[in-house]
Amino acid sequence: MTMTSAVHTDVLIVGAGPAGLTMAALLATYGVDAVTVTKYASTAHSPRAHITNQRTMEVFRDLDLEDDVRAAATPNELMGNNVWATSFADEEIARLLTWGSGPERRMDYELASPTSMCNIPQHILEPVLREGAEARGADLRFSTELISVSQDTDGVTAVVRQRDSGTEQTKQTIRARYVVGADGGRSTVAEQLDFAFDGESGLGAAANVWLEADLTKYAAYRPGTLYWMCQPGNDYWVGSGTWICVKPWTEWVLLFMYDPAEGEPDLSEEAVIARARATIGDPDIDLKIKATSLWQINHLIAQKYQIGRVFLAGDAAHRHPPANGLGTNTSIQDSFNLAWKLALVLQGKAGEELLATYTDERQPVGRGVVDRAMQSVGDMRPISKALGFEPGQTAEEGQSALDGLRAPGPVGERRRRELAEAVALQNYQFNALGVELGQRYESSAVIDDGSPWPKPTRDPELYDHPTTHPGARLPHAWVEHERVATSTLDLGGRGEFTVLTGIGGEPWADAAQKAAAALGIPVTSHVIGAGGDHADVLGRWAALREIGDSGALLVRPDHHVAWRAHHLTNDPSGDLELALRRVLARTD
Ligand code: FDA
Repeated sequence: MTMTSAVHTDVLIVGAGPAGLTMAALLATYGVDAVTVTKYASTAHSPRAHITNQRTMEVFRDLDLEDDVRAAATPNELMGNNVWATSFADEEIARLLTWGSGPERRMDYELASPTSMCNIPQHILEPVLREGAEARGADLRFSTELISVSQDTDGVTAVVRQRDSGTEQTKQTIRARYVVGADGGRSTVAEQLDFAFDGESGLGAAANVWLEADLTKYAAYRPGTLYWMCQPGNDYWVGSGTWICVKPWTEWVLLFMYDPAEGEPDLSEEAVIARARATIGDPDIDLKIKATSLWQINHLIAQKYQIGRVFLAGDAAHRHPPANGLGTNTSIQDSFNLAWKLALVLQGKAGEELLATYTDERQPVGRGVVDRAMQSVGDMRPISKALGFEPGQTAEEGQSALDGLRAPGPVGERRRRELAEAVALQNYQFNALGVELGQRYESSAVIDDGSPWPKPTRDPELYDHPTTHPGARLPHAWVEHERVATSTLDLGGRGEFTVLTGIGGEPWADAAQKAAAALGIPVTSHVIGAGGDHADVLGRWAALREIGDSGALLVRPDHHVAWRAHHLTNDPSGDLELALRRVLARTD
């Protein structure tokens, strides 16, 4: 083992998964000196997470990567059908239109965001993020494993090891002002810095079989992401195998649960082909196994996301089942919250206290996500119950119970009603727009205006409730400038604070300029309304903004409202500068 000279950087990012690559791309965009190390020679080599929600697409939009991601993804139109059956070839048991693709929910999703969900497996997404990060100048170091990390008052010292240097391995010290541990569910950073977690691990075990099978005949007429095959006498809970579409309709992941108490499942080619064949139900389909892997269900959340100069992002901080598809999404959104704060602190434009708001804002979101995902897993039990499946049943007993679901008469009718209710419950997993978009922050980087949060008018997990209450994500509305439609979300972000105002609020634009000059940061401003920079032709912004024409919203670089004034004040410059100073924890 040889030691090479030390590297010095402002931010060391450990891990180049969705969280680390997004952090690297954002910090490079903001001009921050950062080094990213990752222990493997390349990005993810298998599909893993795939559901990419609108909030994450808004982050990619902010990074100018939305089109690249979409070009590589399966579009929302092909994601919708969630199918339950005993096999692809058998008669279907139930179906739910998901991810906002059904007519009942499409409008909610379209009104909430300028972008749409897509399905992009991790091994396809990560190269897009990597290319985007490198194009912005990010310094990504592959085959570089973190082996130790410690901190003192001035910085963090990490030791990394080159893993591709032949037999003679090379170690290197990296000295950084901050470290972001984006090193996944087995985070070395979390372990070595003694981050404490709430929850439990090993709550379930699953196998992924990545394979090629042309199922066009069985999938193209009901295009979807998830096909749940529930065979009598098999796993009574989530079915005998869930087929996750990787590439329509020829590449899939077949996921199944197993009981670790009975040992690891047989992952021989023969065994997994037999399982795949049974759940396809058509012996004529050719199969080619690409890879298999095992993983487990955890329900863990870091109590804090920061200890001193070290932060956790992504699975390093929150570990949960894939239900609701929140794994990569939450990881990417963590980075969007932290990156601008690190940039402003490192540039000397914000006080270090701003960094503490990362835990205050993201930890409650992470806790909500792990709890929601865990509940969604449990909420799948009523489906197997409605099918009549029970643990320990033989295939004949299971089949007879299933036949009862199709029987005429009051019992069959009740069973069918119970199945419909069990399927409807899955909306909390597959059409949970409120969970996907409704993240709200309370911290010192948000200045509460004393008004209560608006009461939800519909189920807050299923529906988005746009509000400009400080701490909320800025509501989306299409506004128009020189015949081009722009989302209100596109008016801000890109590492900058933004002031949005309306007719009669023009002094806020002047105030934004003065605050920018006083604080040494760019603050853009837009007047929305007839005669302003952007026309609110549909009147939708006026309906959403919850402030008067002459009021103002101060929007953070991550699209969250930092502060608002309901009307023009006597001293807009003083008020806006004061708000910014508080948000930035400035003491000068
Ligand atoms: P991620 O785990 O993706 O990345 C960690 C990074 O850290 C990697 O680049 C790794 O090389 C690096 N690293 C680790 N230790 C290091 C060290 N000591 N030194 C240097 N680098 C180090 N989620 C979901 O929502 N739906 C799904 O279907 C699935 N399916 C699924 C299947 C399998 C097999 C796995 C393993 C995981 C899933 N997940 C999932 C979870 C999903 O993959 C996960 O939520 C995201 O990848 C989290 O992204 P992160 O960037 O936080 O970590």
